[in-house]
Amino acid sequence: MARKKLTIVGAGNVGAHAAVWAGIKELGDIVLIDVVEGVPQGKGLDLTQASPIEGFDSAITGTNDYKDTANSDVVIITAGIARKPGMSRSDLINTNTGIVKAVVEQIAKHSPNAIILVVTNPLDVMVYVAWKVSGFPPNRVIGLSGALDAARLKAFVAMELKVSVEDVHAMVIGGHADEMVPLPRYCSIAGIPLTQLLKKEKIDTIMERTKKAGGEIVGLLKTGSAFYAPSAAVVEMAESIIRDKKRIIPCAAYCNGKYGVNGIFVGVPVKLGSSGVEEIIEIELNAEEKKAFDNSVSAIRKLVEEIKI
Ligand code: NAI
Ligand code: 2OP
Repeated sequence: MARKKLTIVGAGNVGAHAAVWAGIKELGDIVLIDVVEGVPQGKGLDLTQASPIEGFDSAITGTNDYKDTANSDVVIITAGIARKPGMSRSDLINTNTGIVKAVVEQIAKHSPNAIILVVTNPLDVMVYVAWKVSGFPPNRVIGLSGALDAARLKAFVAMELKVSVEDVHAMVIGGHADEMVPLPRYCSIAGIPLTQLLKKEKIDTIMERTKKAGGEIVGLLKTGSAFYAPSAAVVEMAESIIRDKKRIIPCAAYCNGKYGVNGIFVGVPVKLGSSGVEEIIEIELNAEEKKAFDNSVSAIRKLVEEIKI
């Protein structure tokens, strides 16, 4: 079987680390592309030299020319600016809309059959921009949100209960913003509902920390935002697609009536396989969860109405 081709646009913190995870998982041959000359080439070469040590067979190359990305199966877009302390994800909207538009025009031209995974913030708007500009069917344009937010929630639960992260399952829906909706009712530890293991006050604290988890890291790093967990999360999505694993992962997906949402992307549980979004799974939400989800959808819609593409 021919190897798959994975392009990562933006060879910065998230992009370069995504190349590391994807290389180690042998998802295919990897092309790193950036506007800065030398950086994707240098990081590609460096990572290639790590491959004999870690023992993975992925050809990793860097470039500034989209011709080298031609016929990619999956394209991860991390190009753009990241937030600094005091900035919200939506402060990035104007600069990153221009960058994502320029990138996606090239991707659509050189890899017309690719599945695009968007990482750039503000996520729910940038994935909408990518969809509009690409002209791709919505199952082939997906945003990184809940895979990361749920991973953070799982980590916090495992830290609190002092159990293996492997046994924790969690679901976070809504936008990748402070209005995201972590769902404690859908969190379990080896099948045991979280609500049986922790008191409500403790659960509430963990849910609040999850919502602000990106900001917590920005506050600590001071010069940029998180990248280890984000890059691992987007590679988890890419793996499910490339290996047709059909994992259920919350992602920003185009909603066409699902959850009562039309015409925008928002975080919902998705079955991810070789055709991208293969199904949006509608879970039952109680009145409080539905209100929080609708509030998150309204915030996304407001931002989408602001952009001019
Ligand atoms: P970074 O600054 O380390 O890397 C961004 C890279 O994009 C730089 O190397 C830059 O040269 C490149 N770039 C800029 N314009 C470009 C263009 N037109 N074409 C190709 N490359 C271009 O930033 P980092 O930390 O990697 O974050 C990237 C983006 O991902 C930010 O917008 C950040 O907010 C977002 N992000 C989103 C997450 C999510 O869960 N959706 C999680 C983490 C980050
Ligand atoms: C995060 O959640 C910045 O969106 C990025 O860490």
